[in-house]
Amino acid sequence: VVPGSLVALPDGEAVAREAANRLGNCIRNAIDTHGYATVALSGGSTPGPAYAALAENSRIDWTKVEFFFVDERAVPPDSPRSNYRMAKEALFDRAPIPAERIHRMQGEALDLAAAAREYDLEIRSRLRWSETGMAEFDVGIFGIGDDGHTASLFPGEPTVDVTDRLVVEVPAAGNREARLSLTAPVIEQMRAALVLAVGKGKQEALERVWATSGDVHVTPARYLREVRSVTWLIDKAAGGLG
Ligand code: 6PG
Repeated sequence: VVPGSLVALPDGEAVAREAANRLGNCIRNAIDTHGYATVALSGGSTPGPAYAALAENSRIDWTKVEFFFVDERAVPPDSPRSNYRMAKEALFDRAPIPAERIHRMQGEALDLAAAAREYDLEIRSRLRWSETGMAEFDVGIFGIGDDGHTASLFPGEPTVDVTDRLVVEVPAAGNREARLSLTAPVIEQMRAALVLAVGKGKQEALERVWATSGDVHVTPARYLREVRSVTWLIDKAAGGLG
């Protein structure tokens, strides 16, 4: 039984269009309810086309949307590996979004722990808070790694268990550079999550995420199950039909 709602679409293009529509609706609902919307963007390769489609949405008042990041690689903002650069090219450069509404993680910082603390404070100062005392994003966009990671919470790493901060520095491992990532509690507390998975490589990880039992240390993306409104937007191949 898949937690939340599953939307299976023919291909990546359809996933991007649907993700952009749903993201646009979440943003407009939040603005209607609270006067502004807070969004957390993932990087990687899947969400770019969805961000580009969102940029075309003329019904959004962009002055009322605060953009944050789910994670960032330890690279300068103009690096081809930068999640900020991807979002900038797909979305920030294409829609009239005021610069002060864009909150990027400082991937280029020499002291990543300090950058994590700073971003933690930035989130705390801008977000609404839940009754249980946790910063509450209106919506987060997530991807899933073939290994079952989400955000930059990787299987077997101690960052998966961090609960005393909103943002954590993730040490480099193998040929992966260091990163900054939101932590599990702030991910779980989001009002809504849209999870995008395209391609056969995601099938096995998705099965582990959706299985009734499992371990977040093996499959950190299982944290997404806890989000009160989680929607899985997948293509046929990720669903094992391609
Ligand atoms: C990143 C991400 C990461 C991503 C997954 C899936 O910086 O890489 O934010 O968590 O969502 O790795 O990536 P793809 O979309 O490239 O498959």
